Amino acid sequence: MPTTIKKLNNEDVEALIEVARDSWRWAYRDIYSNEFIETWIDEKYSMEKILKEIIRSQQDLDIIFLGSFDESTLTGFIELKMADNEAELLRLYLKPEYTHRGIGKLLLLEAERIMTKRGIVKCRLYVHRQNCIGISFYKKNGFEVKGINGDDFVMEKKYMS
Ligand code: ACO
Repeated sequence: MPTTIKKLNNEDVEALIEVARDSWRWAYRDIYSNEFIETWIDEKYSMEKILKEIIRSQQDLDIIFLGSFDESTLTGFIELKMADNEAELLRLYLKPEYTHRGIGKLLLLEAERIMTKRGIVKCRLYVHRQNCIGISFYKKNGFEVKGINGDDFVMEKKYMS
């Protein structure tokens, strides 16, 4: 079944939190402690916070929040925040069993289509220095390392206006 990419809805909140939890446990298993991961998910992915951001995206405000679906199952998501003509890629997470199948690229491409339509000329992101899969993915998709911020690489990609 092909992957569908679409804007997230209010009813996707619980599934999104589960995808985030699975993805974090997998991606950061050798980087952060279990305790850190569980606390992070509980705090940063509270239903209230995620719902607020999904609503901002539905209203075409400063957030782009898209999900990838296998039939009706949420398999991953991407979230970006825009300000003026720049954007920050805040989150891109897939269920581990759906990685390495081109879905991350599909999510990014759709976000880029929306961003460029809205006049974004630069996108920045922060990725943990030990997240080799993430870094490799972003480099293959046109992002360059521009600096270091604590444990993170700062990566950027420019777009034609
Ligand atoms: N092993 C090695 N490289 C991988 C793997 C893997 N299991 N999965 C993806 N990649 C990288 C490689 O560069 C690969 O290129 P290759 O096929 O030539 O080896 C490329 O990604 C493949 O691209 P996609 O299939 O489109 O990538 P995917 O659908 O897996 O999406 C993503 C990439 C989002 C990083 C996904 O692997 C994932 O969810 N990882 C865990 C969460 C994560 O680390 N997210 C980024 C956090 S940073 C942030 O959100 C700003």
